[in-house]
Amino acid sequence: MQTALTEILRVEHPVMLAGMGGVSYSRLCAAVSEAGGFGCLGASTMGDEEMVAEIAAVRSLTDKPFGVDLLTAAPQDMPAKVQAIIDGGASVFVAGLGVPREVVDQCHEQNVIVVNMCGKVHHATAAVEAGCDLVVAQGTEAGGHTGRIATLPLVPMIVDAVGSEVPVVAAGGVFDGRALAAALTLGAAGVWVGTRFIATPEARAVSGYKDRILGADETSTVVTRAYTGKTCRVINTDYADSFERSGAKPEPFPAQFLKSLGDGANHLGGDETTAGVDPDKEFMPAGQAVGAISSLTPAGDIVRSMVAEAEQALAGALG
Ligand SMILES: Cc1cc2nc3c(=O)[nH]c(=O)nc-3n(C[C@H](O)[C@H](O)[C@H](O)COP(=O)(O)O)c2cc1C
Repeated sequence: MQTALTEILRVEHPVMLAGMGGVSYSRLCAAVSEAGGFGCLGASTMGDEEMVAEIAAVRSLTDKPFGVDLLTAAPQDMPAKVQAIIDGGASVFVAGLGVPREVVDQCHEQNVIVVNMCGKVHHATAAVEAGCDLVVAQGTEAGGHTGRIATLPLVPMIVDAVGSEVPVVAAGGVFDGRALAAALTLGAAGVWVGTRFIATPEARAVSGYKDRILGADETSTVVTRAYTGKTCRVINTDYADSFERSGAKPEPFPAQFLKSLGDGANHLGGDETTAGVDPDKEFMPAGQAVGAISSLTPAGDIVRSMVAEAEQALAGALG
């Protein structure tokens, strides 16, 4: 399935692993790339040394292309972090929060593609004006920090706004090949998938997180500022529920993030061995797609079946 996305990323399948902080570590990233998709490390939960080690670990597991997503780099240390990403051999840098104006030239001079996450049309036009090479149109259905516009209207509006020069990648609620087919039909060049890849053996997660995803239905997520101070879609918990009911005013990001850490409700970046995790309180970002996920599936199988299903859906759409 060749699209503008497979061409620019130099991969076989138009399926990208979302750079999920706490979840998209080297094992998952390499598994997606090795299957012909595009793996992306979620480095927002990693210290600098850990990020460099994780990049090296991806390189040791696959020689296929991969990227790195940074959510919270402070503008002053952004160029150094991005240089570490480039030196490690990543071919793509993804900016999760805000247009990364200060590093676009640095990336381009070293043949690295710049991607920006966008929840509104004007985010996408600003990203393109700043020189970004790809934009991800992320609808409110998505897990993690999210906006208010749904994927179905957002994707074609961003496609129309940025024109044909910059490929658009659809995100938010994509869990199988039918959504990949839909995304292509809306004018996107591929998909950026988060939640579906949490339910894989390769994903990093604290204990109870994957079980909550497998047990969830489509109503199990909520958008709350309880964990980070920004609107974030998570598995609903007693902690999020009592925060919302209390009418408490969240601290701004990242102070509220630190508050949830202090409350013992946030161990994102930990794994099954992390102590003190209570799934009734824990920060477990996840999207509405949870309702459709009922088994842990190897990441490579997800990539391959998504493409096969999309081909079938496109062929079958007109009967
Ligand atoms: C656990 C989790 C962590 C996330 N962390 C980040 C992040 O650090 N940077 C970022 O750009 N997006 C992050 N996101 C959003 C994803 O990149 C992606 O847009 C979203 O998962 C897509 O929607 P879906 O979950 O319905 O597939 C995160 C999402 C989840 C579920």
